[in-house]
Amino acid sequence: MQIFLDTANIEEISKGIAGGCVSGVTTNPTIISRENKSLQQCIGDISALSPDLTVLVEAVSSETKEMVKEARQLSKLAKDIIVKIPMTPHGLAAVRILSGENIRTTVTLVFSCNQAIAASCAGADYVAPFVGRLDDINADGLSLIKSIKKIFVTQNARTKIISASIRTPQSVAELFAAGSDIVTMPGNILQAMYKHPLTDAGLQKFAEDWRKVPKEL
Ligand code: E4P
Repeated sequence: MQIFLDTANIEEISKGIAGGCVSGVTTNPTIISRENKSLQQCIGDISALSPDLTVLVEAVSSETKEMVKEARQLSKLAKDIIVKIPMTPHGLAAVRILSGENIRTTVTLVFSCNQAIAASCAGADYVAPFVGRLDDINADGLSLIKSIKKIFVTQNARTKIISASIRTPQSVAELFAAGSDIVTMPGNILQAMYKHPLTDAGLQKFAEDWRKVPKEL
């Protein structure tokens, strides 16, 4: 079970890493465009925060040959890069080639079981179903994760599931319960995960009571 942050913002990622439970970062062209920096600069800054961080970077080409070339370059941007490839026939052909070169891939923009099956059969290491974008159009993102998990377990597929496009903190627990291997979320959702009023009240009471204990030093 792993938590990733779905952002390229350095402050957000630093805060997430400091919280102890983040092991990766996912980006896409929209996320990179918010930072006013080149892709190379963004990835360099992110990976400089922690050498152990897994970083997902998306290929933007649309033809197989160009995607493969781009993925080879992207995979060298940092120590632990996974290349995101869009869910298209050209994309899956690129995934097939890259899997033979030991370049790890995530097939992104997955919205159905059949897309997840096709991605897995092409050799994808991960699929990234966009849970929130399904919920946005009154479909059921959580049910999709449950169904993909059932298929992958039944078929003993090695492909893992990264649940993406997260809208609420409650959905995080539901997605892990449904079998997500990774959930990638914005910083505000991660910060909300730590919170519980009873934790705050309990801490306050412990601090008050501790002040009553006679101290030897
Ligand atoms: C996943 O990796 C995507 O970058 C992301 O989760 C999409 O989220 P959005 O639907 O909030 O844009």
